[in-house]
Amino acid sequence: MTDPTDFYQDMKQKGYLTEVRRFVPGYDEMVNLVASKVIEISPFQAVDLGMGVGNIAELILCASADTYLTGIEQSEAMARFAQKKLEPFPNRSKIQIQNLQEGLNERKYSVAYSNLVLHNIDQNEKINLLTEIKRSLLPKGQFIWGDLVSFPFGMHNPIVAYRHLNAWIQGADAGFVKEDLYKELFEDSKLSVRETIKLCRTVGFKDPRVIWKNTAGTTAVFQMSV
Ligand SMILES: C[S@@+](CC[C@H](N)C(=O)[O-])C[C@H]1O[C@@H](n2cnc3c(N)ncnc32)[C@H](O)[C@@H]1O
Repeated sequence: MTDPTDFYQDMKQKGYLTEVRRFVPGYDEMVNLVASKVIEISPFQAVDLGMGVGNIAELILCASADTYLTGIEQSEAMARFAQKKLEPFPNRSKIQIQNLQEGLNERKYSVAYSNLVLHNIDQNEKINLLTEIKRSLLPKGQFIWGDLVSFPFGMHNPIVAYRHLNAWIQGADAGFVKEDLYKELFEDSKLSVRETIKLCRTVGFKDPRVIWKNTAGTTAVFQMSV
């Protein structure tokens, strides 16, 4: 299996935000939606699960003056970028370099959010992690989950292939297109919208629902409470 740390180290060298915009149609709209949902809640304690280069955390910290934000990220390369973005907020943020699958600590949050991360985690581990996320939330806490979603009826592979072709046409490196295509087809553990909602209910989240989908339906953002 691709080592995710190396994978993102490679992507970082090519410019993470430039690359992700090529591979994920509607990336900026998705990020702004996730950030604006968190800002609307104006949480006292928020956690970004798989914070990447810290772009969502930065939007939240700029707009929500009462929020203390913890960012969890396993890739040191990505976390170094995030550290720079969080420099203006030394008293309201911290980064934990950690694999989410090791579990969350005892800190409680009013909002947990995660964007484009959980599809990297296989089904059984995903159940454990979602249970852990639920446990880490305060009463009435909210979880906002943005991710790639899969398609039923044999449509998944052609749609993923089309998205990668489109990234290549936009200038993505051919080697990286190939590597990411392989990862999405054979290694990732994506769920459909329906499967996501069912899983969140099974774990015990209340009212899991879709709050945003990109026009092609390849990504969605879900919101739920404890
Ligand atoms: C596609 S990026 C998304 C980054 C950011 N959330 C965004 O929306 O742009 C996935 C990020 O999740 C991190 N990641 C993936 N699996 C992880 C895990 N098990 N624990 C911690 N971080 C993880 C990767 O290192 C990477 O920075």
